[in-house]
Amino acid sequence: MSGIVVMMNGLPGAMGHEVSQACIRRGLTLAPVALTGGGQPADCQVTEGSTSVTVKLVGPDAAGSQRKALEELKKAHGNRLVIIDFTHPTAVNPNGDLYTSVGVTYVMGTTGGDREALMKATNDSGVYAVIAPNMGKQIVALQATMERMARDFPGAFSGYKLEVTESHQKTKADTSGTAKALVSSFQKMGVDKFEMDDIKMLRDDESQKAFGVSEEHLNGHAWHTYTLKSGDGSVEFQFKHNVSGRRTYSEGVADAVQFIAAKCAEKSKKRTFDMIDILEAGVMQ
Ligand SMILES: NC(=O)c1ccc[n+]([C@@H]2O[C@H](COP(=O)([O-])OP(=O)(O)OC[C@H]3O[C@@H](n4cnc5c(N)ncnc54)[C@H](O)[C@@H]3O)[C@@H](O)[C@H]2O)c1
Repeated sequence: MSGIVVMMNGLPGAMGHEVSQACIRRGLTLAPVALTGGGQPADCQVTEGSTSVTVKLVGPDAAGSQRKALEELKKAHGNRLVIIDFTHPTAVNPNGDLYTSVGVTYVMGTTGGDREALMKATNDSGVYAVIAPNMGKQIVALQATMERMARDFPGAFSGYKLEVTESHQKTKADTSGTAKALVSSFQKMGVDKFEMDDIKMLRDDESQKAFGVSEEHLNGHAWHTYTLKSGDGSVEFQFKHNVSGRRTYSEGVADAVQFIAAKCAEKSKKRTFDMIDILEAGVMQ
């Protein structure tokens, strides 16, 4: 579908910038207005190649101004408008409610919030949406593959000892959700007793550099290594996925935007999707 206009809510945040740039690279139009959080500047500049867009930032302070900004964009662009949300866990449900009540197509990349309530509000409203806490398409595919392997070959790794190390920027307090998902698959494949607390988390510069993370990516990376060793030590498997920076997630978002705009245009019966749906459709670029 051509002529897609994206509203990048969460600018001037890190993902807001990366995703805006990925959308411009895909030839999508970045709307000159976006929703933001408290204490942000009045506008920001997004530059990709020779394209530069000044985006007016609408904060939560003036009552009704965020809804008005959405309604105006909807009036101007109709079904060609896709809202993207990379904001804050506390904004997931209020923003979801705003999008569904205005009736706009959206892609929710923000993690956290009450996911069940978000799904319910979206399904009840009938808007088109992609809701995905991980837009890293190859990682989502690996996660799904491991889960399928666990289903098809339970006990394939019985008697193996599992070790997991994950490293993320030090602002990430919790254990990687992806690491937990893969551990759950390995557990189903019969590895020796392994608790989620056994996942080794690296959150300090020194151990991250020793793990191989470069200085420039200490503030934005997601590195994971899973090692499985047979009981007698004669066989070793290793699975590794190391993401430096945020670019891969932003490319997945651009895929999601194009996918959901097409679903809306063709009036698909199914209206709420995740990254697995997009991977299965084979429309990733
Ligand atoms: N789905 C994925 O693949 C994926 C990848 C990376 C990050 N994330 C998630 O995206 C979110 C944002 O990450 P980030 O690194 O860009 O954070 P960030 O702190 O750099 O940026 C967040 C932005 O959201 C704005 N904001 C806060 N509350 C808002 C509200 N109510 N309405 C509109 N804007 C609001 C802030 O002003 C800020 O500009 C986090 O939840 C993170 O976990 C998801």
